[in-house]
Amino acid sequence: MLPDLSPAVADALRTAFLRARYTPDGVRELLGAAAHAALGRGEPEPAHRAAAGAGELGVLVRLLLLGATEPDAAVAAALAPCSPTDASAAGLITRDGAGWRAAMDVRPYAEEDGPPWWVVSDLDARRQDRDHVTGVGAASLTLAAATVRSAAGTVLDLGTGCGVQALHATQHAGTVTGTDVAPRALATARATFALSGVDVELLEGPWLAPVAGRRFDRIVSNPPFVPGPARVDLVYRDSGAAGDDALAALVADLPRHLAPGGVAQLLGSWLHVRGEDWPDRVQSWLPPGIDAWILQREVADPALHVGTWQRDSGLDLAAPATRAQAGAWLDWLDSAGVEGIGFGMLTLRVPEHGPGTVVVEDLPGAVDDPLGPEVAGWLDRVDWLRAHAADADLLAARLAVAPGVVLERWAEPGEIGWAEAGASVARMDGPRWRHEVDEPGAALLAGCRGELPLGDVVELLAFAHDRSTDAVVAESLPAVRELVRHGLLVPRMSAAQ
Ligand SMILES: C[S@@+](CC[C@H](N)C(=O)[O-])C[C@H]1O[C@@H](n2cnc3c(N)ncnc32)[C@H](O)[C@@H]1O
Repeated sequence: MLPDLSPAVADALRTAFLRARYTPDGVRELLGAAAHAALGRGEPEPAHRAAAGAGELGVLVRLLLLGATEPDAAVAAALAPCSPTDASAAGLITRDGAGWRAAMDVRPYAEEDGPPWWVVSDLDARRQDRDHVTGVGAASLTLAAATVRSAAGTVLDLGTGCGVQALHATQHAGTVTGTDVAPRALATARATFALSGVDVELLEGPWLAPVAGRRFDRIVSNPPFVPGPARVDLVYRDSGAAGDDALAALVADLPRHLAPGGVAQLLGSWLHVRGEDWPDRVQSWLPPGIDAWILQREVADPALHVGTWQRDSGLDLAAPATRAQAGAWLDWLDSAGVEGIGFGMLTLRVPEHGPGTVVVEDLPGAVDDPLGPEVAGWLDRVDWLRAHAADADLLAARLAVAPGVVLERWAEPGEIGWAEAGASVARMDGPRWRHEVDEPGAALLAGCRGELPLGDVVELLAFAHDRSTDAVVAESLPAVRELVRHGLLVPRMSAAQ
């Protein structure tokens, strides 16, 4: 059965949820940090204990979050003014003996300082069904945290699933459109939006077909990106095309659907093929003229890749059928010469003016801060660098070392104590970009305080080291551009600050 909520049922349920405080804050307060964290790890017992004797909120937590069967009278009181029968007809709960249990997962969700939402998704019990609709998972949160949140006119969420990315988009977009190939996903997203009281246009169809001829200011997508043989065992995971072919086609097509200045952000996985550089592979997918920032977060070997995704779908890894599936998957990866599978984030922009900038790189480590502001900053900085592409313009700019950037030096044991072996400048925030610098480089950065034009700092450095200014310019400007792009050097009095 597909979820299907009339506006009246959605309103009544929202009334009940708000009254009982079945909201992100209410549930967090009821469970406490430890039980909340345990639930996130798939350990429900602490949450059951916290929800015991907790009135209507306890009933809703046990019924909708924890999969318990609750007595008819308790469910009727907790859901009022929605009757259990109406909630059941809407596909959210189902009869279980004399009581009720959940037919869908309905959980409170919000972004920081945002209104409460409720995300509908499939129960874990349906995890191996072909059209299983996933809830808010780690990948969903990764993309949501990496999304640029400045105001936008139109946003497209491609492969909306439970609707989580579209929910976030309603906070900063004029209009939001969600698409999905799976009717079950669309029905689930519709239920999410109805309960959350947000307006999202929903369209059915594969990839960009439902929005043919349309352009958006932003596109977000957590597509089925998991490389494997050409098959669809799980719609949320498998693209139906072999390897990373579907991502390649999507990346090639997306810019056609972006308005000038528009930005697409998506998660993706790409193959590391024997004898090939992965950045060349991903770069070859990009149409000419666009800005693209491809950030690789991690690389898995084939065994880890297959095991991770089989475990994710809840399979018994030792069962003969699972082993057969793993064998076919590994055989395919082997036949395609795949040595590793990269995972990361792609940001594409159709620049309003000038040639595009393409950067393909690895994230240096775990990122604690949300990546969204970093992506917004990167786009601004790329614009600034484009406007200062001529050496003369860059040399005329006043640059300052960004707050929170440190100079690190390291040393090795030497004949007479520690012998300095190198230095780097590093950001202590965001992705903690780190660049090695030599002594003249460190001296140049020491002079970047936003007071003098860069050209003057370079001249002083050339004089101090008895070098020609041209030689110092030729050596330092490429590095300066990299430092600006990574936000270690910031232009004074410019849009990129
Ligand atoms: C990984 S889930 C992401 C769901 C949700 N957007 C999120 O961030 O959690 C991928 C979604 O893409 C949908 N999908 C799969 N193949 C698709 C296709 N060819 N075109 C459009 N959507 C597709 C699936 O139904 C699923 O809802």
